[in-house]
Amino acid sequence: MTVRIAPSILSADFARLADEIAMCEAGGADWIHIDVMDGHFVPNLTFGAKVIETVRKLTDLPLDVHLMVLAPEKYFDSFAKAGATTLTIHVETAPHLHRQLMKIKDLGCRAGAVVNPATPVDTLSDVVQDLDLLLIMSVNPGFSAQSFIPASLGKIARAREMLNAARSVADLEVDGGIGRATIRDVWRAGANTFVAGNAIFGAKDPRAEIAVLRKLCVETV
Ligand code: DX5
Ligand code: ZN
Repeated sequence: MTVRIAPSILSADFARLADEIAMCEAGGADWIHIDVMDGHFVPNLTFGAKVIETVRKLTDLPLDVHLMVLAPEKYFDSFAKAGATTLTIHVETAPHLHRQLMKIKDLGCRAGAVVNPATPVDTLSDVVQDLDLLLIMSVNPGFSAQSFIPASLGKIARAREMLNAARSVADLEVDGGIGRATIRDVWRAGANTFVAGNAIFGAKDPRAEIAVLRKLCVETV
């Protein structure tokens, strides 16, 4: 399985965004993770299409856009136009998940679905064939630098079983509290894509940290 490291720019220094993105590229990041928060679904407010468009101009890396917003479909068009590669929506905000995933694909983006720590991964069993990415939150969304919730490991393993049983090649991504202390177990549980905010941007040498995290997975194959 290919290991993918996706730095979350929520933890970047926005006054130096171009440098931060260049650092991610130089460090070998696979994707750039962009956390969109609306202050309703989660208790924090971040950014929208304008920032996605700005990041799109700064890099050719895939943009992994995580929508922590109510009524996510309101933003599909503008985010796709802004250059998003993947749009990932929360099951908790998507009563018509199948329709919403189809809409994302129609716009030419990869379609992702994400579950909060309290939401069972089984809620995705009937759309598993439609997913390009399945994201497991290992913290309650809203803020960076929170602690990894240990019960997420069992859930990641169940998600891996579900994807394998469906012969799905969707990426299994994990978001929240990923760092040196947790990434190895998350990889062993079956994830291949790792979002990291604080662990990368808070590191002494952020560029080198991307390689350190990747190596912790690869070494334990
Ligand atoms: C949490 C966001 C995460 C966050 C991760 O609500 O979805 O992407 O930035 O930050 P760390 O890696 O610091 O937990
Ligand atoms: Zn995220």
